[in-house]
Amino acid sequence: ETGNVTLDVGFVNTASCKSSITYIDGDAGILRYRGYPIDQLAEKSTFLEVSYLLIYGELPSTSELADFTERIRRHTMLHEDLKDLLQAFPRDAHPMSVLSAAVSALGTFYQDSLSITDRDQVELSTIRLMAKLPTIAAYAHKKSQGQPTLYPDNQLGLVENFLRMTFGFPAEDYQVDPVVARALDQLFILHADHEQNCSTSTVRLVGSGQANLFGSISAGIHALSGPLHGGANSAVLSMLADIHRSGDDVDTFVKKVKNKEDGVKLMGFGHRVYKNYDPRAAIVKKSADAVLKAMGVDDPLLDIAMRLEQVALTDDYFIERKLYPNVDFYTGLIYKAMGFPTDMFTVLFAIGRLPGWIAQWREMIEDPATKIGRPRQIYVGATERDYVAADAR
Ligand code: SDX
Repeated sequence: ETGNVTLDVGFVNTASCKSSITYIDGDAGILRYRGYPIDQLAEKSTFLEVSYLLIYGELPSTSELADFTERIRRHTMLHEDLKDLLQAFPRDAHPMSVLSAAVSALGTFYQDSLSITDRDQVELSTIRLMAKLPTIAAYAHKKSQGQPTLYPDNQLGLVENFLRMTFGFPAEDYQVDPVVARALDQLFILHADHEQNCSTSTVRLVGSGQANLFGSISAGIHALSGPLHGGANSAVLSMLADIHRSGDDVDTFVKKVKNKEDGVKLMGFGHRVYKNYDPRAAIVKKSADAVLKAMGVDDPLLDIAMRLEQVALTDDYFIERKLYPNVDFYTGLIYKAMGFPTDMFTVLFAIGRLPGWIAQWREMIEDPATKIGRPRQIYVGATERDYVAADAR
């Protein structure tokens, strides 16, 4: 009687854009960056080399990688006023909110790299973001701990520098654990890009209006913070800790998920695209075991995670819905073993995803044919009707 039209449209799943950066086959569980399989890159490459591949399209020569690394090294410091701005945030502010605000502010401090048409400025904003995001992330962590920050040490590599700024203190020398550095470098590789996911589509959409790179990435960071997207790695840890607190009863938890009690989900499971085992999750699972052993960490939550996975992979409820572990299921256990607090897990995801966001934004700016068009909708609201005065409603 209200004239609403009801259409049974289901979920309209259409390709949002063309891209030559990342290929995913969700049914076969395949992921490739610029044609290179993710398992080969995770095993043989480094985060900066993969970042170069994603952004420029080819694996770098030794000299190209050295130049890229050196250019990033020269930009790891923050403007002193930006450092002060970071100090002004509340101590209990979520680091992802601080990260997004600080990246947006970069555009106010570095106005000589806002152009989207001047190639040198696009390159400068690329390098500044790659260099400064880890510094901002480390400072956000220090602020939340009420601890003093450390300036970057440019004798160190990007990951080592980040670990030192995060866990080091001015009063003492900090030795980076090579096992931790290699594991974090590999995790950054695994997160580096993932075609048109929620946060990458956000970066592209904001950039499609010709907003500058800093603003587009700031929007992507916020999109990533949601618990159904990048926030899932923290949510997995909370879920495992709850199960542990309740006496490790995995079967009771699984029953709650199947009964959809209070909307509870098996966090770290399921994926919009992968209807098979997320290839990244398989690599992280192998690494989790090795890293925790190498660090001498015996975390009961790892055992719960493995039992939870075993139960879910053999249960019809999850099999019918093609729910498998995704990249977030095991990463939190490694981050926790490395000493990161839970609210920094998604910040680590953002550092890893940054080269992918930059690559996708640059591709869209350089080749308008890869632009995400203005999304349309299927209108299911009221049909045309005439205005009625208030006293006649
Ligand atoms: C990331 O897109 C990307 O590439 C993202 C990402 C990247 O690298 O950028 O891979 C990173 O975001 C990984 C996903 C992290 N999120 C989580 O782990 C949160 C838990 N997962 C769910 O929220 C869910 O699986 C999604 C959102 C990830 C995907 O949802 P789908 O595949 O679209 O499935 P759906 O929401 O349409 O649900 C289908 C059915 C439903 O049951 P019925 O209504 O049919 O009975 O599956 C159920 C859902 O209730 N379901 C789950 C579930 N996920 C889906 N049930 C329990 N636990 C889950 N995790």
